[in-house]
Amino acid sequence: MEQLTDNYETFISFVVPQITNLERMKRVHQFMMLFATILLAGTTVFGAGSGKTSRIRIIPQPEKVIPQNGEFQIKGSTVFFIQNQQLKNIAGFLNKKLTSAAGFSLKTVANKPTGNYIALELDPTIRNKEGYQLNVSAENIIIKGSTAHGVFYGIQTLLQLLPAQIESPVRAKVSQWTVPCVEVVDSPRFAWRGMLLDVCRHFYSVDFVKKQLDVMAMYKMNVFHWHLTEDQGWRIEIKKYPQLTAKGAYRVEGDGKVYGGYYTQDQIREIVKYAKDRYIDILPEVEMPGHALAALTAYPQYSCTGGPFKVRNIWGVEPDIYCAGKEETFKFIDDVLSEVVPLFPFKYIHIGGDEAPKDRWKTCPDCQKRIKDNGLKDEAELQSYFVKRVEKILEAKGRKIVGWDEILEGGIAPSATIMSWRGEAGGIEAANQGHDVIMTPGDWVYLCYFQGDSKVEPVEIGGYTTLGKSYSYDPIPKDISATMQHHILGSQANVWSEYMYTPKIAEYMTYPRLIALAEVNWTRKENKDFNRFLTGMENQYKRLDLHKINYAIPMPEGPGNSVAFTDTVSLSFHTTRPIKMFYTLNGSEPNATSAIYTKPLHFDKTTTLKIRSILATGEMSGVRTIKVVKEVLTPAVEKETTSGVNMRLTTGTYLKVADLAKAQKWETSVVSVMSSDKFNYMTPSAATFEGYVDIPEDGVYFFNSDVDQVWIAGKLIVNNDGQVKRYSRNDGSIALAKGKHAFKSIYLNNIIGGWPSSWNEIKVNYRKSSQSNFEEIPASAFSH
Ligand code: ACM
Ligand code: ZN
Repeated sequence: MEQLTDNYETFISFVVPQITNLERMKRVHQFMMLFATILLAGTTVFGAGSGKTSRIRIIPQPEKVIPQNGEFQIKGSTVFFIQNQQLKNIAGFLNKKLTSAAGFSLKTVANKPTGNYIALELDPTIRNKEGYQLNVSAENIIIKGSTAHGVFYGIQTLLQLLPAQIESPVRAKVSQWTVPCVEVVDSPRFAWRGMLLDVCRHFYSVDFVKKQLDVMAMYKMNVFHWHLTEDQGWRIEIKKYPQLTAKGAYRVEGDGKVYGGYYTQDQIREIVKYAKDRYIDILPEVEMPGHALAALTAYPQYSCTGGPFKVRNIWGVEPDIYCAGKEETFKFIDDVLSEVVPLFPFKYIHIGGDEAPKDRWKTCPDCQKRIKDNGLKDEAELQSYFVKRVEKILEAKGRKIVGWDEILEGGIAPSATIMSWRGEAGGIEAANQGHDVIMTPGDWVYLCYFQGDSKVEPVEIGGYTTLGKSYSYDPIPKDISATMQHHILGSQANVWSEYMYTPKIAEYMTYPRLIALAEVNWTRKENKDFNRFLTGMENQYKRLDLHKINYAIPMPEGPGNSVAFTDTVSLSFHTTRPIKMFYTLNGSEPNATSAIYTKPLHFDKTTTLKIRSILATGEMSGVRTIKVVKEVLTPAVEKETTSGVNMRLTTGTYLKVADLAKAQKWETSVVSVMSSDKFNYMTPSAATFEGYVDIPEDGVYFFNSDVDQVWIAGKLIVNNDGQVKRYSRNDGSIALAKGKHAFKSIYLNNIIGGWPSSWNEIKVNYRKSSQSNFEEIPASAFSH
């Protein structure tokens, strides 16, 4: 499996979160790893044996699995017996896999056969409409569901019992397609098992969407929440308002390139059909009243101020939203929804409702008149008025609304279903008021959160949600009364794509956490077991490989990529879940035959350490290259200096440090602190700060910063050049004698990858090697 390639590594920067938290998390991890390793060792031995459970690793874990002796073999002569014509397509689904992977497909017979056959049946005594029973004996396979949907899930389970190569798109080298004998009785814990994909911050192709739908179906997920409109792009063709896509689908990025795209109505119909064939409903989201700048760029008359606007090219929340005072706004929304509704047969439409700043409404005469005329208390009630009007529009078209938990503020619309994203409180409140709820609290289900140490992971929005944390989620909150629990329809993984610059990064963030959340939604609470899940995932990685899914493999965590030392140094590594790490000390790429990491590594000379994790399936993580450098203390500079550093300032857009060579005019001054206050992304610029930094005592010092470069004693120590300058992971280190050392930092005030560097602080932090926390270098340490 290919991990992040060099090509877009240049795009990516990494985070240094608060070390105190990180250190605490690490300690907990180390303990849990030890514990989990012991447990895992037990299950692995059991799972790898030739016993009857060895091949039965179904994810999500079914309600009941009773292994039997023997196996069934699917051969070219095996036949389908389909009791109900509704089930023909499902037989077709299995036949398609067999045709690709096995090179044969099964014929359907009219009369119940005697020998080797697969029967698909509807059985009204199965209570859950998505439930199924699967019986595999040496003679036949019988799959029963109360509906076709249940039978489809029986087929998904059958596929997981077959060799992983059944997912191969080309003829696989498998001599026998056998299925272990087993009895499975299964049904989902929750009816709503969703995944949101934000195609606005970054746009993904029709094929990419279909690929995710394929994987969702494998893990019995049934709602694809398609986030189609945003400040940063409008992605759905609306024939009556062509400018929505002509203008609203494209933005000019910080580097001047045009970015965008949209789905035509034909493409949407194609995807809806593709999803339906996999028993997945599509929930379209058309955001209002906020997150609407792309629409307002195309049609500024539906804003409070009248514009003009530009499609937003930075992340964050836009203050310009739809005007709630103008009647024409509601006409526009009605028209848009009139085209959206026929495309999506699902009974729900998501209308957004989150993060709508009220600044414009407060000063808009139309909005204020609306408040007055309708006896509304404030702008929160105006949002409630807005949502209730849209609820009526959609009701008239036969659809129900779903909205983010902000739509509780100012009074919830009577029939609304709530998605609780700012924690669980909104969901609990809505359920207690008798509304249906989908739980999507950030800490567990936001797949835009880091899944490991931000220093070694692609840059992300923030947060920290390991696979184990996602897996631990229970969609039924603790403080909800038993009588209201039925309002929790389920939960959903949300893939917000600000930092998912490529389809590969999007998959890296999504998998395998999505599969943990599939189990959260499907599996009975008492059947959940993280270690069994991890072992079971070994049956899944190969399948994901065959689908070319770029899932994440935990990286070795611990030191940064540059470690200076003067005498000896010891480096220790860990991972977010049990996985073996392999390393080399001679510059070669580690593989499964390299040295295995078991204890801290000691160094007494300059070495290039390369280390990576390798799954039991043989799949490898990316490689970390760590320069471990033996140094002598760099002598201090003997020089009379005065406080402050020299700042040189130039205006213009500079994306790389080398671009500064083109700067025409520099202004020079002396500043006492390096502050981002004077910088604004609207006026791109660059600055260098030069002077001396006073080092308090002899030792090895680590530095980090979100600026582009930091030079100490003439050496480049921190280099974020060309990257998204958010949460720098690029700590550097150097051995320094007590006293003054030449200092230079370079700051480019630009927008890269949607992140304006003027949102950063431009300070430089350091720590002595013996300390774990970075601190800002105090202004008093600088001179020139
Ligand atoms: C959201 O994450 N703003 C729903
Ligand atoms: Zn207004």
